[in-house]
Order: sequence, then C-alpha cells, then structure tokens
Amino acid sequence: MDDARDLTRRTAIALGGAGALALAGCAPGGDGGGGTPSDDAPDGTGSGSTPSAAAGEEIAALADIPVGGSISATIGDEPVLLAQPTAGEVVAFSAICTHQNCVVAAAGERFECSCHGSAFDAATGEVLNGPALKPLPSVAVAVEGDRVVTG
Ligand code: FES
Repeated sequence: MDDARDLTRRTAIALGGAGALALAGCAPGGDGGGGTPSDDAPDGTGSGSTPSAAAGEEIAALADIPVGGSISATIGDEPVLLAQPTAGEVVAFSAICTHQNCVVAAAGERFECSCHGSAFDAATGEVLNGPALKPLPSVAVAVEGDRVVTG
C-alpha cells in the first residue's frame, strides 16, 4: 500500500502537478474485491531487478489492454506484463519468469512461460502452475487518462 502512495507522489512530481488530479481515479480503492498485488517486494530469484524508468513514461494505451485480459510491453529494455482485471484498474509485473528467467507471455487472464510451462495469474502475478514457485514481481504503474504510465 505504501507503493501506491509513493507512486502517486512520484508521478505527481513527474507531472509537475498538471495531471496529478487525474491519478486519483486509479488509486487502489478497495472496491474490486480482488486486492492489489502490492503485498510483497520482489525478493530476487533470477535477475532480482524490476524495471525502472522515470515516472510518467507511457507504457501503453489503456484501450490496448482488454478488461479481464493482458498484454506484453516493455519499460526501457525490460519486458513487462500489463493486465486490466477490472475496467480502469491496471496492474503490471516483470515478465522475467521466477523459475529460470525466461520471458513470460501475456495470455488473457494468465501469463504463461513457454520454457517449462509455468503460469501466473494476470491479476495478481501469483503462480497458477509450476515449476515456478514465486509470483512475478509487481511493477508500479498508473493510469493517466487513457494511458498507462510508469509509476
Ligand atoms: S523459466 Fe519459466 S517455467 Fe522455467
């Protein structure tokens, strides 16, 4: 939950205040029932790093992410996965598999790793099928109008 506050603050700084009010709509509000995947820090199987970029950098158009679905994207050189579990709520995860670092692909409500068959929940990053044991690390993003930006 600190992530969300930090995200809002950093994004507001990056926006210079001009678009900060628009971010209020994307703050976790607790009405989705599914929770938000911000309860654990990445603890580093594999590369151990999560994508980092200046806050406010566009990653995708909100309309590109199906509600209830997911897409692959990049932040800088780092592959990430974006999902929109409910309309207007976007979550993001590192696409680096927590098993042996293959790039995980978006597959609707799941993320799938073609290397050894691990699957992850697109809404939470949690493991659905092994051999991976750890969830995909979450990545801070924000919805800014019709865009998804780095947080
Ligand atoms: S690297 Fe992804 S399942 Fe093995």
